[in-house]
Amino acid sequence: MTLVLGIETSCDETAVALVDDARKIRAERVLSQTREHAPYGGIVPEIAARSHLAHLEDLVRGTLADAACGWETIDAIAATTGPGLIGGVIVGATFAKGAALARGLPFVSVNHLEGHALSARLSDDVPFPFLLLLVSGGHCQLLAVEDVGRYRRFGTTLDDAVGEAFDKVAKLVGLGYPGGPAIEKLAREGDARRFDLPRPLSGRPGCDFSFAGLKTAVRQIVDRLGTPDARAKADIAASFQAAVADSLADRTANAARRFVREFPSGRHLVVAGGVAANQALRGRLQRVAADAGLTLVAPPLRLCTDNAAMIAWAGLERFARGNRSPLDTACRPRWPLEELAGATS
Ligand code: KG4
Ligand code: ZN
Repeated sequence: MTLVLGIETSCDETAVALVDDARKIRAERVLSQTREHAPYGGIVPEIAARSHLAHLEDLVRGTLADAACGWETIDAIAATTGPGLIGGVIVGATFAKGAALARGLPFVSVNHLEGHALSARLSDDVPFPFLLLLVSGGHCQLLAVEDVGRYRRFGTTLDDAVGEAFDKVAKLVGLGYPGGPAIEKLAREGDARRFDLPRPLSGRPGCDFSFAGLKTAVRQIVDRLGTPDARAKADIAASFQAAVADSLADRTANAARRFVREFPSGRHLVVAGGVAANQALRGRLQRVAADAGLTLVAPPLRLCTDNAAMIAWAGLERFARGNRSPLDTACRPRWPLEELAGATS
């Protein structure tokens, strides 16, 4: 049995997890910094890095204690080395490298996006190849996942990431950070037909996304209304969420047709990343997948938003293929999945 300790500090969650090769999460601790950043309406990188540094050691000790594990039972230490807020990434990666050196354990560098990409293999044992819709605060992409480290990009966002659009629209209507869950909650009480918002790129060929125009359209509505009342806010949230879901569904349908053509053995559409927590979106994607003859796999909510179990798992998949990272592996603020080397190359 292989047991990997995973560390994730690339954004505003300090997270530690122990995962084994039977796909069992033995223990997991996540400390959200949401309250520390809330007064600023977004993540402050310097506060994030300092908070990771203040809490990481305790979280590692706690996770080991929860699983009743000593360091001697661990086979490898995996940590996110990018992409993300670089101060935080350095805190987690340096801690992991230090622990690996001190305990004589192998270190495995993990790309945060690969963590999201492979999360459905941890939760549902999805076989390669699969089509992946990766939707988070910093990323919005459609990719064919051929193997660990082998990604073919079908489309990406031309401007904002979809989670970013949720967060900005939430701010426009006076909701707190993070905006996605707040918009989804409010949208349940709203009328999605009240405001006629654009469905960016819908009906056009290709698999790219765009959300800047949609965000501007919401801003214009808010400006026109002056101070929207509670009813109007809920209707804006519902109208915006419906427009996003329509646009994502349209682009994903194009990608699904291409995927089925290029990868006839593929059977699954996976949605991952923080925005994959959105239930309305999941409903739409279910139909897109079915129309293309694919099965939709959406990992459980706690595996969709940032977490360390997905990092431990991606590290484990790489470790199992013989991948070991040198202790001078650099941390990278930007690190597209297509630049990732295969696990055995
Ligand atoms: O993957 P994630 O936790 O962090 C990044 O790597 O970016 O994604 C965070 C993003 C935020 O923009 C947040 O607003 C969005 O995911 N999000 C949601 C929902 N839950 C989180 N967006 C829409 N609906 C949700 N339920
Ligand atoms: Zn993420």
